[in-house]
Amino acid sequence: MNLASEEKLPPMPPRFADLKASIAASYPGFEQNLTRAWGELLAELDLKTKQIKYEGVNYIPQVKFADLNDLSAEELDIIKRRGAVVIKDIVPDEDAVKWKEELKQFVKLNESVEGTPPEDKQFFQLYWTKPQVQARSHPNVLAATVWLNNLYRVRNQSSSQETIQGVDLNVPLTYADRFRIRKPGPGWNFHPPHIDGGTIERWEDPYFRRCFEEIFQGKWQDHDPYDLGGRLEARSSLYGRPNQSSIFRSFQGWLAMSETAPTEGTLKVFPDVLLSNAYIIMRPFFTPLVDTCSEEIFDPSNWKFDLSTPDFHGIYPRDGGYAGPRPTSKTHPNMRLEETMIPVPKVNPGDAVFWHCDVVHSVETDHLGKGDSAVMYIPAVPLTPQNLAYVERQKETFLSKERPPDFPRGPAEAGFVGVAGVEDLLSDAGKRAMGLISV
Ligand SMILES: [Fe+2]
Repeated sequence: MNLASEEKLPPMPPRFADLKASIAASYPGFEQNLTRAWGELLAELDLKTKQIKYEGVNYIPQVKFADLNDLSAEELDIIKRRGAVVIKDIVPDEDAVKWKEELKQFVKLNESVEGTPPEDKQFFQLYWTKPQVQARSHPNVLAATVWLNNLYRVRNQSSSQETIQGVDLNVPLTYADRFRIRKPGPGWNFHPPHIDGGTIERWEDPYFRRCFEEIFQGKWQDHDPYDLGGRLEARSSLYGRPNQSSIFRSFQGWLAMSETAPTEGTLKVFPDVLLSNAYIIMRPFFTPLVDTCSEEIFDPSNWKFDLSTPDFHGIYPRDGGYAGPRPTSKTHPNMRLEETMIPVPKVNPGDAVFWHCDVVHSVETDHLGKGDSAVMYIPAVPLTPQNLAYVERQKETFLSKERPPDFPRGPAEAGFVGVAGVEDLLSDAGKRAMGLISV
């Protein structure tokens, strides 16, 4: 998003100033605590952003699928803090390449498939092709997502997380999403830096807000992005906007069906989920006293605590609900986004990239490579009551080959040649993940 388009975005309704005031009133010593915390955070961001810029692509951890259960505590800590990981060789290269060829065949055979851009389709409104259904139910893909789910935990609770009613991090669920086969070329402006899975809800929904409790208390260092507590009941789609995920994905992810390297249209992330959460959540409570493009903005004394506006920076009204968070260099200057949005390292077919549900991510605007950059979007989804309720609704759309509940309405896939049936799922765990056999 460029500055010009940002300035034309509609303002937030005045009632959001009241939300800000009510949040402030609900935490004792809010102004004092947050002002101190803001100063500490800006100092830490100043250091970390320079380190991220220096390390570049090496800052994103990479592990082999076969080694997932042998990682050291230190390696796990790095993955958790950076919030993104490349997992290599989840499925054999040739299987992933075969899926890509089958998907290409599918869209060739079924000319009316909806895609973007319409004149040269590369991102497809398809959910139930055989390769997608097979990939989501592949035992290794499900095992990788179970491993990711288990990076979460329940804090302040003596018993194990399995004892929370209806929650089991070892049972993966499926969230059907789409795929892309991106051709080389410039100008994909669809995905500037953003966070999925909840916009203004991060502040407006009292359950979602609990995920950030320590940040609101001014103790951002104690914030744990992997605390399951608030996530289980957080409502991430209060306004029911299409494309707004209504479930809890512990990590979002995609499985590569081609080689994709930096500069080839790959994913970029801000690789410090603790700092980005702390900064984005606190940002609406502060106003800069200097130009946000100036060097002085890195000095905490050039910000002041302010509850007077309805702005929640990076959140914008859209389609009857809200979009964002979409941090920019102007709204969130201390993230130094121009320098700290790091592309993930080169992946091969069968590798996957996963990023924590709060991680700021974007897609490279230009694809300067020579081949397809092809991925299927497959997140990690644990069994929780809210997620299971979605899977039950999603199952019906699979059986009727309609689009899944969270996604834009449009033509069903039932009439297409090559749509998957129940028999195409590759494992019992995959059937369970789809709600087709009992959990
Ligand atoms: Fe996204």
